[in-house]
Amino acid sequence: MKETAQKLIAFGKGILAADESTRTIDERFGAVGIPSTPETHRKYRQMLLTTPGIENFLGGVIFFDETVRQRLGDETFPEYLVGRGIIPGIKVDEGLEPFNGTEEKITRGIETLNDRLKEYGQMGLKFTKWRAAISISDIFPSDPFLAENMERMAAFAEISQQNNFVPIVEPEILLKGTHTTTRCGEIETKVLQVLFEKLKSKNVDLENLFLKTSMVLPGEGSGVKAEPLEVAHATLRALKKSVPPEVAGIVFLSGGQTPDEAMNNLNEIVKLKGDVPWEISFSFARALQEEAMREWAGKDENVPAAQETFIKRLEEVSKARNGKL
Ligand code: G3H
Repeated sequence: MKETAQKLIAFGKGILAADESTRTIDERFGAVGIPSTPETHRKYRQMLLTTPGIENFLGGVIFFDETVRQRLGDETFPEYLVGRGIIPGIKVDEGLEPFNGTEEKITRGIETLNDRLKEYGQMGLKFTKWRAAISISDIFPSDPFLAENMERMAAFAEISQQNNFVPIVEPEILLKGTHTTTRCGEIETKVLQVLFEKLKSKNVDLENLFLKTSMVLPGEGSGVKAEPLEVAHATLRALKKSVPPEVAGIVFLSGGQTPDEAMNNLNEIVKLKGDVPWEISFSFARALQEEAMREWAGKDENVPAAQETFIKRLEEVSKARNGKL
């Protein structure tokens, strides 16, 4: 676990989230007019992962169950990545379900996790990810929801480490809503405090665990766009109040920001971080893939142009990860 944790976000590197569930990739392909079949999913991941040079900027790639079973010639995708010095990992939560008949949606998948990890271990996967989605409104998130959701997330981390996987815990505070940056910061702090209490009570080894979370931002319906400096201050304030120093690293999701917004905000966070005890990096899905997906458009002849777009964005995001944009 130690070696995986050190390599995942080594200097200049981050993690590509290519772990869209079948439903999510259907939606993303649908939005840009690409037919969604297992073979187009495979070809899309092949386009991304065969891009020359990605190993200079990626320490790891997160997959979804469908993709780890697909092949690139003689090898599975995870085997191919290992050959390029990139660590393969997997999203293991099974999506969201209603919580106690409310609008809140809790993450599911704990009951079957241990068995699934046995198989993923044999496939050569080294790290795992579990996402919880937290909406902000005047009344949500509720305390019982947070307690149960973070309890499941901590159980995921515990079971992952028992099976020698490095867990990435991902509480995502959703951008949807009309909340202010201040309220987002308060909720982010609270969610992380609850999460780390639960992790500590299960004796999860924080030195072999990554936190993947959202930046502190105003809700997309608030009519406000925060400048990178404000986002960086608010995000670092929330993290300093809630994340223990032992944590191996913090990686950010892009969460519906444009690629430029997510990248510029990351750059500012790293520039401002001072002597925080954790490594900070990226684990974007949309902010790394959006432009390349559009450029590819499901057509073989577009692969070289899409790969060029992808590597350019990756290189820039890697600079941002070092605060050197
Ligand atoms: O679960 C969400 C992904 O891991 C991150 O995706 O960067 O598009 O928010 P995103």
